[in-house]
Amino acid sequence: MTQAKTWSQRFEKALHPAIATFNASIGFDIELIEYDLTGSIAHAQMLAKTGIISPEEGEQLVAGLEQIRQEYRDGQFNPGVDAEDIHFAVERRLTEIAGDVGKKLHTGRSRNDQVGTDTRLYLRDQIRQIRAQLLDFQGVLLDIAEGHVETLIPGYTHLQRAQPLSLAHHLLAYVEMANRDWERLGEIYKRVDISPLGCGALAGTTFPIDRHYSAELLGFGQVYANSLDGVSDRDWAIEFLGAASIILVHLSRLSEEIILWASQEFGFVTLTDSCSTGSSIMPQKKNPDVPELVRGKTGRVFGHLQGMLVLMKGLPLAYNKDLQEDKEALFDAVKTVKGCLEAMTILLAEGMEFRAPRLAEAVAEDFSNATDVADYLATKGVPFREAYNLVGKVVRTCLESGKLLKDLTLEEWQSLHPQFEADIYEAIAPHRVVAARNSYGGTGFERVKAALKMACDRLNSARSES
Ligand code: ARG
Repeated sequence: MTQAKTWSQRFEKALHPAIATFNASIGFDIELIEYDLTGSIAHAQMLAKTGIISPEEGEQLVAGLEQIRQEYRDGQFNPGVDAEDIHFAVERRLTEIAGDVGKKLHTGRSRNDQVGTDTRLYLRDQIRQIRAQLLDFQGVLLDIAEGHVETLIPGYTHLQRAQPLSLAHHLLAYVEMANRDWERLGEIYKRVDISPLGCGALAGTTFPIDRHYSAELLGFGQVYANSLDGVSDRDWAIEFLGAASIILVHLSRLSEEIILWASQEFGFVTLTDSCSTGSSIMPQKKNPDVPELVRGKTGRVFGHLQGMLVLMKGLPLAYNKDLQEDKEALFDAVKTVKGCLEAMTILLAEGMEFRAPRLAEAVAEDFSNATDVADYLATKGVPFREAYNLVGKVVRTCLESGKLLKDLTLEEWQSLHPQFEADIYEAIAPHRVVAARNSYGGTGFERVKAALKMACDRLNSARSES
């Protein structure tokens, strides 16, 4: 079977069917159809406004394009490989519907500026949705944090017990990350929000088009100042994939923690039935599939970022067919980020519960209050480094005798250093250890309450802004 010719009379022979399939993007760029129609409607309106076509012709084109939208929504528009891509598919159908006037739609533009317009319209929409998801994700973290200001959890460095924390403080760290992600996407949005429509194939057009008008109809904040740049710039896609990768860095870190916390070794959370799965052979198991999948899916988004960078490297101006390869990466990254954010938000909201008794036990059974002993002496005038060395010795003695710091008698403390008094016990109690870290950004309960309030206010204003 050979393909009907889509292009000009320059071609005598039809495309080889395998090449037609290889060349076609309709299999994936159908995802852009609504944006392609919207972009074409704006282009048609601009052609009519500038008198390049008549007002009646403009109306016929718009009506035909809207009809295609309806057909698509009704499942009646399913172009095959012979259409090559979404742009040809729409133009062909438009000409079937509207007759010869349909052939006027492509006046003063090219598929090169068209596809750039479509992908930007698509990504603008997706960025808005992802930003909304980032706010929901923050909202759930804040809800949990509110109930756990005074719940303690071991804090780690090098995955070794370091100093105990307010659980809310730990969760608020992820709120900060998600807030940066939200801000970052807001910044990137500005660079997605630039219209290439009317840049033509590469050099602009001989028609008296009004690029600012079509950009305005499409709600673009700016228009590309250089036609070559307009049709071949994909910085915005790279930036988006960078931001998507960072979102997944954050989600994968949280995922890893949840996976550890759910293990029997940690036992800090229990997974509820709605978000975990069983094993087909080991009846006792409950697996943290959601965070594991998020951790796993992170890799493919990093891959898309790398792929897009390599796609662009050394690409001469202006449009090259290589650029057709931007779309699947973008679509898959968008789908993956949205899926991961949704799943993690649900997991946090209803898929896991913190085991407060186990957490309390965990913070009481270690030496994560050792810094506080050194701080105690330093407050009494002992130089910190000297105090630090002394406490190191105390910990070693305790380890040898199987004791914790709280098990030492006052005599033992005083034999170690005369400055120890009875209030040492209070100074090393986990709750007090956490409460005392009230420096700005620290885990002290008063600080955490203030940080919670700040994050809630920020979330509310972000919500009202978007
Ligand atoms: N399907 C093409 C793409 O995705 C549309 C632009 C085609 N332009 C061209 N000069 N062949 O990039």
